Amino acid sequence: MATIIGGITTSHIPAIGNAIAREQQNNPYWKDFFDGYRPVRDWLDKHKPDVAVVIYNDHGLGFFLDQMPTFAIGAAHEYRNEDEGWGIPTLPPFKGDAELSWHIIEGMVRDEFDITSCQELAVDHGFTVPMQLLWPELGLSMPPAIPISANTVQHPIPTMKRCLDFGKALGRAIRSYPKDIKVVVLGTGGLSHQLDGERAGHINPEFDKMCMEKIISDPEALTKISRHELIRQAGSQGSEFIMWMMMRGALGNVKALHQNYHIPISNTAAGTMIMESIDS
Ligand code: DHB
Ligand code: FE
Repeated sequence: MATIIGGITTSHIPAIGNAIAREQQNNPYWKDFFDGYRPVRDWLDKHKPDVAVVIYNDHGLGFFLDQMPTFAIGAAHEYRNEDEGWGIPTLPPFKGDAELSWHIIEGMVRDEFDITSCQELAVDHGFTVPMQLLWPELGLSMPPAIPISANTVQHPIPTMKRCLDFGKALGRAIRSYPKDIKVVVLGTGGLSHQLDGERAGHINPEFDKMCMEKIISDPEALTKISRHELIRQAGSQGSEFIMWMMMRGALGNVKALHQNYHIPISNTAAGTMIMESIDS
């Protein structure tokens, strides 16, 4: 049967993609941020997951305001990337695992999560930047990936509780896959940020740090935070924390192996964590 070896959280700021494209990882401005990924890459290198389930939010490339699924899952053999205008080079297609995707879709729908299945899906920076951060050589070491997108763009967005419950169903679906494979689940996006409006530039380190702590020790407590409160505390794009909740729900008991919190050039606080599954 499939096992979930753990979860990883990571930011997806497009400026990171630009720093990678310009090989600025060691420039003093970026060094602390990229150094925070070394333990993550070592952990991935040690455990070598066969598949990465990547929970991200599409920002308008794969879906737009005219058609905005609350939860969508890729069910393709590969996922193309396209130019979104951030100046990041367009990357070659990412390999999928359609068989596992359909198994997950079956399990989710059986569990009453009516998820949109996508046999064609263009993946944006929310997906590609985390993949580049975790597997910098891309094609060489990168496992096949299954993108799962949550709506953080067009209100109403799903609640924190719904996202944690979604993750629980996702975990059950993955664990019921009959092949002996190792799966890592990524929760991407966040932490606090607001890109526009009167509060543009809003960052809330106290709230971010509380979320990083509680997501390990007591994720259920975070379900008490309403969507309005999440946005009040974390900024309008801080809603991206819901992807962390989805990832966390897929894991059972975990121990935190590594944490890094860094506020780089952009408007976004970046949280990086490894949560390793503990067999209970
Ligand atoms: C930034 C952050 C995001 O989450 C995003 O999708 C785009 C840009 C930023 O901080 O610049
Ligand atoms: Fe974003």
